[in-house]
Amino acid sequence: MAIVPVADLSLFLVDQGEGAPVIFLHGMPLDHHMWRHQAAALSGRCRVLIPDLRGFGRTAGASDKTTMDRLADDVLELLGVLGLTEPVTVCGLSMGGYLALLLARKAPERLRALVLCDCRSQPDAPEAAANRLVLADRVLTDGPRIVAESMLPRLFAHHTNECNPVAVDEIRDVILAGSSRGIAAAQRGMAEREDLTPFLSQIVAPTLVICGEEDAISPLAEMRSLARQIPGAEFVAVPDAGHMAPLEQPTAVNAALTAFLERHGILS
Ligand code: MLT
Repeated sequence: MAIVPVADLSLFLVDQGEGAPVIFLHGMPLDHHMWRHQAAALSGRCRVLIPDLRGFGRTAGASDKTTMDRLADDVLELLGVLGLTEPVTVCGLSMGGYLALLLARKAPERLRALVLCDCRSQPDAPEAAANRLVLADRVLTDGPRIVAESMLPRLFAHHTNECNPVAVDEIRDVILAGSSRGIAAAQRGMAEREDLTPFLSQIVAPTLVICGEEDAISPLAEMRSLARQIPGAEFVAVPDAGHMAPLEQPTAVNAALTAFLERHGILS
């Protein structure tokens, strides 16, 4: 673990292992915890980097609105501060997946490979964007509990809710411990994110797309379509998983990740 000065931030970073760098970007309103199974499985064979993004977990620094561009720039600046000159593998879930796509567009030369988990390339429909702004105001007055109540019922597969209460409790605890200011700012930024769908066909990095079969937020059919638009992308559907596939079914997700990273010579 380290605290790294990045832009105006003291950024919290999990930095484990040696070898080719693989950076994991969490979803909203989460933090580095959501990737703990992947860190455990992979850090013996590559350098696992997991930041708490601006306004989440142990990284403060959110203003009124955190744009997706700002978050992507924070990641690029982090790579610079770490002195990483070689291309890195970027793996993101949901908001983190959107950031991974943005990084692929902003700095394709910095990417060795791309892994997109349970995410979308499209912006919000107007009604969804308006709801986000309402939620952003409410979280500032009522706290992260409001976000936990609205998101938790949509995050997990039926199997997880029934058989893995530890995973559900873990995510609830992370949300409840979150910063209202950070969550509100990112909701405002997510509400105005642009459509990255037209960019998908221009992605040159080897790409793996992973989706929980019961994902209610980034549905399977949409993710399959996203994968089809990226040249040569591989697609893996994970049974008994929802939006939090890496935490709900770590064995299956780690197997897919490991096979992909091995095929591209990224693991030692
Ligand atoms: C996430 O997991 O990052 C969120 O579900 C993204 C969103 O609110 O659309």
